[in-house]
Amino acid sequence: MALIVVNHPLAQSLLTSLRDGSTPPPLFRLIAKRLATVLCIEATRSVSTVDTTVETPLATTTGTRLGPLVAVPILRAGLGMLEAVTELFPDVTVGYLGLERDHATFEPSLYYSKLPPLDGRAALLLDPMLATGGSASAACSALEGAGAAHVTLLSVVAAPEGIAHLETRHPNVDIVTASVDTGLNTDAYIVPGLGDFGDRLFGT
Ligand code: PRP
Ligand code: URA
Repeated sequence: MALIVVNHPLAQSLLTSLRDGSTPPPLFRLIAKRLATVLCIEATRSVSTVDTTVETPLATTTGTRLGPLVAVPILRAGLGMLEAVTELFPDVTVGYLGLERDHATFEPSLYYSKLPPLDGRAALLLDPMLATGGSASAACSALEGAGAAHVTLLSVVAAPEGIAHLETRHPNVDIVTASVDTGLNTDAYIVPGLGDFGDRLFGT
């Protein structure tokens, strides 16, 4: 597992605004998209490419076209990262996984799954919060079970507990995040974190 913490000053200032409890949903959505753009660029450094040639007005030269890519947001919160990916990679194929944590046990349950063909493809898994790691782990099982060749998780904030959980169960998954936070509180929320990402994104 590779763990990449994006400490670019732009990423860190956007994260600070997301952490700020007074940031209202419209601004939260905008900033989340901007931060997801930065994370996505980092996460796709080794995306598959195809060599090609191109005619400039002056000569023929070699170039690169992008290979196939799949993005899968985990509902709901991952939706806040999706537009960044579709804008950067307009040809991306998108699947959806609906996962919800039980408030008492923190165990995720899968309530929706709509995945495109994944055989041999690289998938970007979008979920801003890696807390216990249960949701991300269940999502990785779904993607790997559907044949994904590689999974990279884009997270805004990751807890050490969630990273360890994922590393044990899905050692080949890479994580790109803006922060590794201190840990989880007794409600399995990330501390300092930013609260409930889905609630802050959708004003619920
Ligand atoms: C949140 C978050 C993650 C999950 C992380 O989703 O978006 O999917 O919790 O927690 P974990 O690492 O302990 O599994 P939630 O279940 O609150 O659903 P929501 O996005 O619909 O609010
Ligand atoms: N889900 C969230 O939205 N926030 C947390 O801190 C943990 C899980």
